[in-house]
Amino acid sequence: MSGEPLSRRQAIRIGLLGAGSLAIGATGLATQGWPPFGPAGAAASPPGRSAAGGRGLVEPQVIDSVAGTLDLDLLVAEADVVIDGATVRMLTYNGTVPGPTLHLQPGDRLRVHLTNGLDEPTNLHTHGLEVSPAGSSDNPFLRIDPGESFDYTIELPADHPTGVFWYHPHHHGMVADQVFGGLYGAIVVDAESWAQVRPRVLVVSDVTLAGGRIADVSRAERRHGRVGETVLVNGRPASVLAGRAGATHRLLLVNACTSRYLDLDLGGEQMLVRGLDGGRPAEPQPRERLLLAPGNRATLDVTVPTAGAVLTARAHDRGAPEMGMRGRAATAETDATLLTLRADASATQQPEPGEPAVWPLPRDLRAVDVARRRTLELTMGMGMGGGGMRYLIDGRAFDSDRVDQQVRLGDVEEWTLRNATAMDHPFHLHVWPMQLLSTGGSAAPGVDRRDVVDVPAGTEVLVRIAFERFSGTTVYHCHVLDHEDLGMMGTVRVD
Ligand code: C2O
Ligand code: CU
Ligand code: CU
Repeated sequence: MSGEPLSRRQAIRIGLLGAGSLAIGATGLATQGWPPFGPAGAAASPPGRSAAGGRGLVEPQVIDSVAGTLDLDLLVAEADVVIDGATVRMLTYNGTVPGPTLHLQPGDRLRVHLTNGLDEPTNLHTHGLEVSPAGSSDNPFLRIDPGESFDYTIELPADHPTGVFWYHPHHHGMVADQVFGGLYGAIVVDAESWAQVRPRVLVVSDVTLAGGRIADVSRAERRHGRVGETVLVNGRPASVLAGRAGATHRLLLVNACTSRYLDLDLGGEQMLVRGLDGGRPAEPQPRERLLLAPGNRATLDVTVPTAGAVLTARAHDRGAPEMGMRGRAATAETDATLLTLRADASATQQPEPGEPAVWPLPRDLRAVDVARRRTLELTMGMGMGGGGMRYLIDGRAFDSDRVDQQVRLGDVEEWTLRNATAMDHPFHLHVWPMQLLSTGGSAAPGVDRRDVVDVPAGTEVLVRIAFERFSGTTVYHCHVLDHEDLGMMGTVRVD
């Protein structure tokens, strides 16, 4: 992919070829209280090309908690948003794609009054938050019907990990369609005020548009896990982040793509990995590449080189549902430009992001006694009823009325995730993070705690999980959301 945000073909699909304006993307431009950062006025007046060329990065509106509480009215509804000058009908939280960024501190209470303005059920999941899965907390079994409202109350423990998390719908069978349609937003947990120095939130998603709408998705695309033709960052094509040469930006990046893996590459420059999901390395890790599976997030410090640099998501081969098709995926993924870092001598000097105020190290479960070992096998098969390919765990498709794993509260367990298919599956567990021990027999370096663990085709992955603090029933699933909707999800009950 070139630096051009949309190819000619994509422009035709959106239906605006010839429209010269490179205007604002989705709304959500409010950045009150934030100093413009990068090209002068970029945050305050997003449209148009900056003097340095290219559009300045625009971020979703940020809503901060106040005195320990964040109260949010969240309307889920179709709305027109503008992507690269074209008006597109998408699914939105409060009218924008992505929805607002929720900025919380450990110990905060998040209250969401969710109203479903869609013509189908939805609900809300706070992906990665270590909070109760019960009642009106992060409960994926809730169903909010069209026209109904629901009040979520989600209490973060005082020692909740810092980092970037996200929210999206979780009504089984409709998750991929609703996320692909535009329903996602970032949650950032930290103890900083952001008044002086703020991180840059990058919510990455992909979408295919046709005639001003989300394109229809074929059965084959669902089987593979749909890949959108257009990669969006904060609801618009790739943009520019300018700064003095040598300045450091802290990026909080969410992979909100329905199926697409993001193999991050800063053109050979180092990215300093400070955090992944709710975990962090003991020391920030300099990396040239970083693979984020769907659902993963990263906290990255990047320094603007004199010559500039481009953050690209390299195409990643995750296999294909038909055996032996590896390398010839049904939906060929291509490289996508996410962000251009540009050195600009005229950029205002900004304070550098420092050491996070609160950033606890995850506990190492390798030294802990394991109460129980289990093996979960990821397979494919023909499903009962409905026909077509199903994705299964231990030979079964998801059933919300069945308890698949019964766990004793307080136990540390070791799970072997065995992928018997020809595709990679990003395995996600709600509420209790996993410590990655090994992938295909090679040990993970250090303490790698995350909530989405990639399980490559034909490979076994070992994780340990401390089922502590929260009792209740929740789910684990493949975060290729089409696979989850096609059955690759199970339930875990902890008490
Ligand atoms: Cu991000 Cu159960 O999902
Ligand atoms: Cu989740
Ligand atoms: Cu999968």
